[in-house]
Amino acid sequence: MSKKALYPGSFDPITYGHLDIIKRASEIFDELTIAIVDNPDKSPLFSIEERKELIMNVIKADNVRIDSFKGLLVQYATDNAFQTIIRGLRAVSDFDYEFQMSLTNRQLGKNIDTIFFMTDEKYSYLSSSIVKQVCRYGGDISSFVPEEVSLSLKEKLK
Ligand code: COA
Repeated sequence: MSKKALYPGSFDPITYGHLDIIKRASEIFDELTIAIVDNPDKSPLFSIEERKELIMNVIKADNVRIDSFKGLLVQYATDNAFQTIIRGLRAVSDFDYEFQMSLTNRQLGKNIDTIFFMTDEKYSYLSSSIVKQVCRYGGDISSFVPEEVSLSLKEKLK
């Protein structure tokens, strides 16, 4: 039976930190779905469609799909027959939040497990917000995001 996993997040925009997790997870699972959350609590810079397109342009693996969802992650996972959620852990500070989410998701969806990847130390400080902030003030973001993402960010923040 083929093994599939779900990698949810805001991806506003995708960074090298996310790409590192995607590469490693897609080498372990037969199929990886990146699910962009349509989260009303965050005010995204990029629309869902723009984020999808940016991800599509920078993903190299053939076994990676891109989708989006609204509402509960567990509902999306159940509706699409996912039993495994992938998350990246950047630092100890991520742990409490991820622990809480993982246990809540397990409580809501009994068969759903979360697998954590330790983020490459090169990206352990990175977040999409930091990248947007550096770009907004004219800093060099070439070591944080691929060229395509950098160009779109500059265009957006002009
Ligand atoms: N490298 C670099 N940055 C990373 C990273 C990595 N490996 N992993 C996460 N980040 C950054 C992201 O860029 C993001 O930065 P930002 O806050 O500046 O935008 C930040 O860490 C948060 O990560 P993200 O993966 O986007 O998480 P999130 O907290 O926005 O969303 C969901 C996580 C989608 C899993 C969660 O919101 C969710 O499940 N939503 C649906 C509603 C639901 O089911 N709620 C109940 C859950 S218990």
